[in-house]
Amino acid sequence: MHGRATAIAHPNVALVKYWGKAPGPHNVPAAPSLSVTLDAFSTVTTVASASEDSFALNGQAVADAKVAGLLLELREHFALPPLRVATENDFPTGCGLASSASGFAALVTAIDGCFGLGLTMAERSAWARRGSGSAARSIVGGFGVLRDDGTDWTAEELLPADAWSLSIVIGVTSTRPKAVGSTAGMERSRLTSPFYAPWVAATVADYAVARRAVTEQDFAALAKVSESSCLKMHAVALAAEPGLLYWHGATVDALHRVRALRKAGLQVFFTVDAGPQVKAVCAAGDAEAVRAGLAELPGIEFVVVSGLGAGAACTA
Ligand code: DP6
Repeated sequence: MHGRATAIAHPNVALVKYWGKAPGPHNVPAAPSLSVTLDAFSTVTTVASASEDSFALNGQAVADAKVAGLLLELREHFALPPLRVATENDFPTGCGLASSASGFAALVTAIDGCFGLGLTMAERSAWARRGSGSAARSIVGGFGVLRDDGTDWTAEELLPADAWSLSIVIGVTSTRPKAVGSTAGMERSRLTSPFYAPWVAATVADYAVARRAVTEQDFAALAKVSESSCLKMHAVALAAEPGLLYWHGATVDALHRVRALRKAGLQVFFTVDAGPQVKAVCAAGDAEAVRAGLAELPGIEFVVVSGLGAGAACTA
């Protein structure tokens, strides 16, 4: 056991979206999801024993109810001392770039390393999920799925990062924090959207299709199901009361551009999370053309090209 440990984790982008929780405790999703972990962005979290709990994000002390809640749950199972938690993100927080995913994956991994809890990957994933559902998937690298493993909802690595030569091109339209976060947005969707029940049913089917597309490395099949899952998630959110509109004008322009690039022969498809950024998944050889195609659109602030990343791990 050490008094201090540091872990690194990367955000992930869902291709089959998690958007809604099952009733009950422990942040269990209503349906399975599938994602790709990125290597371009990182969260590095250090935990250390201290005289009282504290949490700092990029050097600023912050009160984070989700972090506090997860520590409370962990302490029901493990004898943890008061903790000093310091997290650094090398990308904007809270604007649809999945900072909570890498954040909770890094936090759980650092706590496991610091106190020698001896958690399996599946157990770390389940604990990260309690902090934030998508964080379960940042425990694994490459293509990951979050599904019921028979005992709990945990992530599994479907395909390692180096197995399929793909890039994710991220068109950032705004780095301002979004008005309605994912937790509130999916809860509003569950309670008020007339499309919520069919969405959950469709996601179970989409998950099976996407899983097969990834294991067979069938780009066209993955493109079709991923764009469909994204558009359905936003349709559910748009139909909530009041409607959740995460897109900006530049978001829509970028979606049209991705489809135009595909029509012109590039292997590329889009997805959008609970924010205005567009993520284009493409063959690595097409990444430069996709980057240029997005960068020239007015309203795109900057573009980042990412490869597939590794799962969360302790570095020290
Ligand atoms: C649109 O994992 O942030 O990115 O479990 O309430 O913390 P909580 O939600 P969160 O939601 C992610 C929503 C999404 C889709 C996805 O990542 O699957």
